[in-house]
Order: sequence, then C-alpha cells, then structure tokens
Amino acid sequence: MGVISCWILQVVLVLQLQVLVSLSHNIISGSVPVGESLTASESKQFSSSWLSSSGDFAFGFRKIQPNDGFTLSIWFDKIPDKTIVWHAQGINTTTGLVPDGSKVTLTADRGLVLTGPGGQQLWSSSLPQTRGSVSRGLITDAGDFGLLSEDPGVVLWSSFANPTDTLLPTQSIVPGGNISSRRKETSFQKGRFRLRLGEDGDLQILTLNSETLAETDVYFSYYSSNTKDPHNPGNRLVFNETGYMYVVMRDNTTRFYVNKKDPVPSKDFYHRAVLHFDGVLAQYYHPKRHGVNNSNNGWSLAWSEPENICAKRFGPSLDANELGNLACGFNNICILGDNHRPKCECPERFLLVDPNDEYGDCKPDFEMQTCGPESNQTATAHQYEDRYEFVTLKMTNWPSGDYKRYSNYDEERCKATCLSDCFCGAVVLGRDRLCWKKKFPLSYGIRDANGDSDTFIKVLKLGSRS
Ligand SMILES: *[C@@H]1O[C@H](CO)[C@@H](O)[C@H](O)[C@H]1NC(C)=O
Ligand SMILES: *[C@@H]1O[C@H](CO)[C@@H](O)[C@H](O)[C@H]1NC(C)=O
Ligand SMILES: *[C@@H]1O[C@H](CO)[C@@H](O)[C@H](O)[C@H]1NC(C)=O
Ligand SMILES: *[C@@H]1O[C@H](CO)[C@@H](O)[C@H](O)[C@H]1NC(C)=O
Ligand SMILES: *[C@@H]1O[C@H](CO)[C@@H](O)[C@H](O)[C@H]1NC(C)=O
Ligand SMILES: *[C@@H]1O[C@H](CO)[C@@H](O)[C@H](O)[C@H]1NC(C)=O
Repeated sequence: MGVISCWILQVVLVLQLQVLVSLSHNIISGSVPVGESLTASESKQFSSSWLSSSGDFAFGFRKIQPNDGFTLSIWFDKIPDKTIVWHAQGINTTTGLVPDGSKVTLTADRGLVLTGPGGQQLWSSSLPQTRGSVSRGLITDAGDFGLLSEDPGVVLWSSFANPTDTLLPTQSIVPGGNISSRRKETSFQKGRFRLRLGEDGDLQILTLNSETLAETDVYFSYYSSNTKDPHNPGNRLVFNETGYMYVVMRDNTTRFYVNKKDPVPSKDFYHRAVLHFDGVLAQYYHPKRHGVNNSNNGWSLAWSEPENICAKRFGPSLDANELGNLACGFNNICILGDNHRPKCECPERFLLVDPNDEYGDCKPDFEMQTCGPESNQTATAHQYEDRYEFVTLKMTNWPSGDYKRYSNYDEERCKATCLSDCFCGAVVLGRDRLCWKKKFPLSYGIRDANGDSDTFIKVLKLGSRS
C-alpha cells in the first residue's frame, strides 16, 4: 500500500513537472530551447517575449514610435517604462528597425537569426566558427542573454559581450571594447559617440566624424580616466553588482571611479548606465517596487559625464580640437537642461538642415556674405549698413573658430569691424571688452545664464540682396 501510494505520488509529481516544463519552459527558468521563435506583430495577441526567471528582463520585439518599426531588444520588463538595455545592432535600414512580421529564431548552428517578413535574413548573432553548436539560450536576472554550447560552461555568444548603448551591473568592458550611442533616441543605428576602454588601458568617450561614422574617423575624446600607465594599464571597466563603475588595473587594483558618489542599494533599485545619442554618459536608478523609500517612480539620475557637455570642446590632443561638434551641430547653440542633457537651438534667421534632427546643423535663411572680386576691402562699415544687420544672442559664446581679436572694444566698434570685413560671419564680445571675429560655420555654440559673452551674427537685411 505504502509502495503504491508513493509510486502514484511520484507519477503525479513527474506529470506536474512535465506540465510545468512544457507550458513555460522559457518563462520560469529563463531558458530558451533551440527552435523557439518570436514574431514582431502589430496585434498584441501574437506579440510575445522570453523572460528571465525573476521576470525582471524580457527579450523580444518592441514597437518603436514614431518610426513605425520594431527592434529586437532586451528590456526591464517589470517597470512601466520597459526601458530597452540592448538591441540587435547593424540592421541595414535607415532607423535600424525591422518591419511587422519579422521573426527571430533560436537555431543550433547560427544562434539567434532575425528574418524579415519575406524570410530574408536581417541580422544574426555571430558565433565563433569552431566552438560547436548552441544547445539553448538563457536570459539571466542580470539582463544578459547568453547562447550556451553543449559543452557545459561554454557561452558562445552573449548580449553582455556584444553591448549596444547600455551597461548593466555585472557587465564589463575589456581593452578594445566599447559601447556606442544611438543615432537618435528613436533611431537604433550606431551614432557618433563611443565609450571605449582603449588597448592602452585608458577609458575614454570619443566622438567620430558625424558624416562617415567610420570607427577610424575618431575626432577626439572628451572624457578620460587617465589609466594608460604602461606598467599597469587599465584592464577592465567594471559596472559591479552594487552599481559602482570603475577601472580595474592589470594588477587588480581599482584606480578610477566613474561614479563620484555611492550608488543607491541594488537590492531596492535597478541600475543602468547609458551613452546617450547626444554624447552624455549617465547612470540612472529606478525603484524595483512602487514606493520604495518614497522615491519617484521613474528613473533618477545618479551621475553623468561630462557634467556639462555644452562646455566641452577640447580633447586631450590639441591637434583635433577645432574639429566637428559635440552635442549640437554647426551654427547650433547648446543649452544644458536640468537633467544634464543638452538641447539645441538654431539662432534667429537660421533653420535646421534636417528638420527632424534638432541636434543637427543649422543653415542661414539668407545668402551669406562672401569675399568676391567686387567686395570692397576699403569700404567703411557705414557703406554695408543698408545690406547687413546683426542678430543679437545674449549670453551666447562660440569658443572656437576665431580669426581676429580686438581689445577694449564696445558693442558698436565690435559690430562695425565685422560689418566692414567680408570674411566676418559673427563677433563675440566678452565682458572683458575683447571682441572676437568668427568664421563660418560657427561651432561649439553655448548659451548659459552665467555666460560672460554676447554674440552678434551678421545677417542679410530682410528684403535686401547679397
Ligand atoms: C543595405 O541595403 C541596401 C539596399 O537594400 C544595399 O544596396 C546595401 O548594399 C546594403 N548594405 C549592406 C552593408 O548590406
Ligand atoms: C567599437 O567596437 C566595435 C566592435 O568591436 C569595433 O568594430 C569598433 O572599431 C570599435 N570602435 C572604436 C572607436 O574603438
Ligand atoms: C562594488 O564596488 C564597491 C566599490 O569598490 C565595493 O565596495 C563593493 O563591495 C562592490 N560590490 C560587489 C558586489 O562586488
Ligand atoms: C587578478 O585577479 C584575477 C581573478 O581573481 C586573478 O586570476 C589574477 O591572477 C589576478 N592578477 C594579479 C596580478 O593579481
Ligand atoms: C532614501 O531615504 C533616505 C532617508 O530619507 C535618503 O537619505 C536617501 O537619499 C533616500 N534614497 C534614495 C535613493 O532616494
Ligand atoms: C571702395 O570703397 C572706397 C572707400 O569708400 C571707395 O572710394 C571706392 O570707390 C570703393 N570701390 C568700389 C569698387 O566700390
């Protein structure tokens, strides 16, 4: 009797287990069998995701507004924002998004394979050639999606080792590795900023040529950990479990903390660090449960670098200091928000080159003055007054692009010298009465309530012809 009831109990247990396993193999354990797939779908009914065992993170397709496409991503699933922390990168569409009906399949030979509605391959995880095939996928409660080999303990590919713009606690970067900003908040192509741990051990934030976006077209770095000691270089950027970010040297000592103050407890808060599309690297925290510590229920800023990107210009190497721009494009003015993120504003009489990119370049709405054969270098300012006038930008400076400087000038003389000079695009006048002549395009524009300079841009009078 005892034997039989024990046997029945065992059968029941095994059956229950099998039911559990077959219903939710990938939901309860974070484990995804080979052959599973997910489809991007407008109708919620079919949209699904794979969850980590705690349910903190999900993997699947996310609809991106307003670009009207999907991104294959990993996100924080328990919070209303569902903040994305990883996405399939390098998809050959304008915004890096894929259409409705796209499908991702976990395969044994190629790992994750993303195909379009017509079956064409759009992206796949690049697996090492020689390490054998994938036995299953695993989404961890730290937010990492790994593809595991049949050999125990061997990870063939992981999202943590192929980061996009975000780092999560327990993730690290090794020398030569980097994370890249997005093109825009809603464009998932790589943008022009990189957080890189160099082969020399230095942690830097870099800006690239914004047009070619070539990894070799690095303009300069605007943040550095100064950990390239040849005898003991930086060996790893660590974002540890409790939310500290630092550089570990080859001798295992910790040399450089990116966070300048202690993070909030990771027991109660999620952490993430992101290199934003505007070039700001920032760490945020978010309560795991509603009402923890009576804190606000969204993401709060822990720190950001640089603290004022609008005021950044020079890299450590001076040879590149006049190149390009940082957060805002040419002729565009950078204004730092309370959240330490920049906003850009074209000057009066200037328009965005790309109306959809407020961080891009601004172009004049008039024909600019040029120095042609008939321009009169000996003419006085007076003779130009009927054609050109000045737009005044208070508290605004353009610290680069100077070609002449005058001391002890007031506003009238500063403007007059620009008016009579066909090379002059604008003048900046400081409280110190220094008057600086600027050439076009204007770059590194900054407006700041504590600014000590005003700018006067020479513009064609409305109704006048150049
Ligand atoms: C991207 O797609 C375009 C048009 O579909 C094609 O001409 C181009 O070769 C593709 N580029 C890459 C790198 O696959
Ligand atoms: C960033 O990492 C990618 C992928 O490893 C690499 O191809 C690229 O050259 C790196 N970029 C820089 C600027 O180091
Ligand atoms: C993370 O780093 C901080 C600072 O070095 C250290 O105090 C803490 O113990 C580390 N946390 C873990 C989980 O290693
Ligand atoms: C640094 O730490 C790693 C892992 O704990 C260890 O394998 C290595 O030997 C250490 N290196 C030195 C120089 O102490
Ligand atoms: C939690 O509350 C304490 C005490 O009021 C405060 O000092 C601390 O900054 C709060 N932590 C967060 C993350 O808001
Ligand atoms: C240039 O300006 C000078 C001084 O006003 C004037 O005498 C001269 O005629 C002008 N030349 C031309 C080509 O306009």
